[in-house]
Amino acid sequence: MSEYKFNNIKIEKGQGIGWLILNRPEKRNAMSPELHMECADALDLLADDDDVKVLVLTGSGKAFSAGQDLALYFRANQDNPKTRAKARAASSSWRWHKLVNFPKPTIAAVNGFCFGGAFTQLCACDFAIAANNATFGLSEVNWGIIPGGIVSWNVADVLSYRDALYYAVTGDPFDGRTAEKIRLVNYSVPANKLRSETVKLAKKLMTKSPNAMRYTKEAIRSVRRMNEPEAADYLNAKSVACKATDPIPGRDEGIRQFLDEKSYRPGLGQLDLKKAAARVKSASGQKTSAGKKAAAKKAKKTARKR
Ligand code: COA
Repeated sequence: MSEYKFNNIKIEKGQGIGWLILNRPEKRNAMSPELHMECADALDLLADDDDVKVLVLTGSGKAFSAGQDLALYFRANQDNPKTRAKARAASSSWRWHKLVNFPKPTIAAVNGFCFGGAFTQLCACDFAIAANNATFGLSEVNWGIIPGGIVSWNVADVLSYRDALYYAVTGDPFDGRTAEKIRLVNYSVPANKLRSETVKLAKKLMTKSPNAMRYTKEAIRSVRRMNEPEAADYLNAKSVACKATDPIPGRDEGIRQFLDEKSYRPGLGQLDLKKAAARVKSASGQKTSAGKKAAAKKAKKTARKR
């Protein structure tokens, strides 16, 4: 269970996973201004929480999220520009900026209805798994608006032009299997397997180097908007930064375990991170004790001179 308490969301923690659960099931997890503010705070807490290695975003009850709350987000704020601006800032902060820049891998587990504004947090997550019977829809056209916020940009980015246009213009709802077919989600599974399949993916991610994974996801996202020379330059700098900030360091240890120790094949499996970390720890311990001995010798010499 979790030490975090909120009114509109729930956080559960276990097995290295932080579950951020939108929790207004009676309103199909429609997103109110208060929910947005809580999600923004929750993501800050979870980003800093060492028990959380992977973040999962999902919803309670029948919905992932029915999009923005038409009563509390739209209607209640329409005559109040100040509160509208505040709600909009919190909404875009967590649904896009905080999720996209989240320092650990993120998975959207789409358990049910996913409409309109909910596509933004869906697209912001690194991975997405849907229940076969989940219902997706760009429903905005059905009530006379365009997919606003950044939803049109999200779907134009993630989907093919044909699919983005088709589903945005018709407003047709579609299920998890179709979401997989049009690559809105990585895969779709029977509803009763959604949790176990999400945990399975999270556990796989936990075997990877957190540093390499974080730099990789940042790299893939960023290079999409660059031309080739920009990407080459950026990736060169990013590789140096990844190596410099890796506490293990995985690169040298990975090459050593493959070439010298012949204990694994990087093409077919993952470097043994525990072994790598233990080696680095013992090497730094040796260095420290060697350093201590040298310092003691030097101090003795100086004392004798006096
Ligand atoms: N904003 C505000 N309230 C919403 C909501 C939304 N986006 N989506 C659902 N609700 C509320 C309903 O008003 C209802 O409240 P009530 O019980 O006080 O009357 C409650 O949630 C349950 O909704 P209901 O329509 O009865 O549930 P359902 O299971 O039959 O249908 C949906 C679920 C999601 C298909 C349907 O509620 C819907 O179409 N919602 C709007 C989806 C949408 O267009 N979102 C885009 C917003 S950007």
